[in-house]
Amino acid sequence: MTTESSARTIMERCDILGSFSEEPDRLTRRFATPAMRQANETVAGWMRAAGMSVRQDPIGNLIGRYEADSTDTINRGPTTILPGSHLDSVLDAGKYDGPLGVLTALACVERLHERQQHLPFAIEVFGFADEEGLRYHTAYLGSKVVAGIFDPNALHLVDSDGISMAEAIRTFGGDPSAIPGAKRRSDDLLGYCEVHIEQGPVLESLNLPVGVVSTITGQNRISVSFVGEAGHAGTVPMSMRHDSLCAAAEFILAVETLARNQPGLVATVGQITAQPGASNVIPGVVTLSLDVRHQDDAMREQACHRLEEQARQIATARQVSLKWQHLQESRTVPCATHLTQLLAQAIETLKYPVHTLSSGAGHDGVALSDLTSVAMLFVRCRGGVSHNPAESVTREDVAVAIEVLEQFLMLLAKEQGES
Ligand code: GLV
Ligand code: MN
Ligand code: MN
Repeated sequence: MTTESSARTIMERCDILGSFSEEPDRLTRRFATPAMRQANETVAGWMRAAGMSVRQDPIGNLIGRYEADSTDTINRGPTTILPGSHLDSVLDAGKYDGPLGVLTALACVERLHERQQHLPFAIEVFGFADEEGLRYHTAYLGSKVVAGIFDPNALHLVDSDGISMAEAIRTFGGDPSAIPGAKRRSDDLLGYCEVHIEQGPVLESLNLPVGVVSTITGQNRISVSFVGEAGHAGTVPMSMRHDSLCAAAEFILAVETLARNQPGLVATVGQITAQPGASNVIPGVVTLSLDVRHQDDAMREQACHRLEEQARQIATARQVSLKWQHLQESRTVPCATHLTQLLAQAIETLKYPVHTLSSGAGHDGVALSDLTSVAMLFVRCRGGVSHNPAESVTREDVAVAIEVLEQFLMLLAKEQGES
């Protein structure tokens, strides 16, 4: 199998997975849904055909294991490398954010299997069950379970249909009570390595197919509600209103102003609901999502405090009340020096320039960094567009990503052989 034909297979498989959606006309695949089950079952079939044993862990992560060389009996310590990514998506998603990393790892195993080759360590390809946090508004559910940092209180969260996370997991064939036992032992692991589309324009602007990630930016996700008073749109004078949507509007612009004026800060309101939500009713309650990110953790924390302060000032001035609820916080995570150097060495061996860049997007490596060393390889994507159905990568760049990941595994194997 040439890398070109492996890359073609990956592109076709991304198309297939892109058709597993909860919605007829766009790609939305939330955690533990029937669309997710289709994705897991399909990838599981590809994994089995590549000589892997396959299982689903208690939260619904899909894990395909390709055994180490059984003739190699020297005990070298850690026995397993985890390459992978996630199989859930955002709302109206592109086809590559997540699946590309799972399928590139799988392609490397397929190619080993075809050569009947095993490495001195086992390869466990992970398809994480939830990285985006779309269904329960808290991300990295799958990788948190593997890292042993899953908060059991999250099992009581409910989705927009009132279904609790515990119930969703059970319906999906998982077992909430077995989650603590799904934590991996760190002394058994060589690390986690993820291939992912860049989701930004840097590689394209440098005309490079791939790049090595230095850090993954920290983020906060906050739920903000302004609670005013619903009333008649025709009868309540403007001076006597407690309009929660006007308070939210003022706050959203304050978010934009703060982020525009602080280098490195990005802040986004991506979701908003107004209740009761009728054209002739003054909005009573508005709830919005707030996503705040900065490479520097102290700057991010400071920005969150400042925004909360501003939200309170706006609420007070407009005589509405404020609910400020932290849903999730993650610090900036540096990728592991050693694995990152191996990725860079793999790129050099293949005669591509090595470019290092940080990730503004969150990834499963954030949660897994509590467990093991993490490294990431970014693949150029068109226009830097992602979280959008227009997400696009080329087959040629995917072929480079396969070569780099394969070379990375070989370098790791060589090191193990020497140790
Ligand atoms: C995940 O894609 C995130 O960074 O929100
Ligand atoms: Mn994403
Ligand atoms: Mn992703």
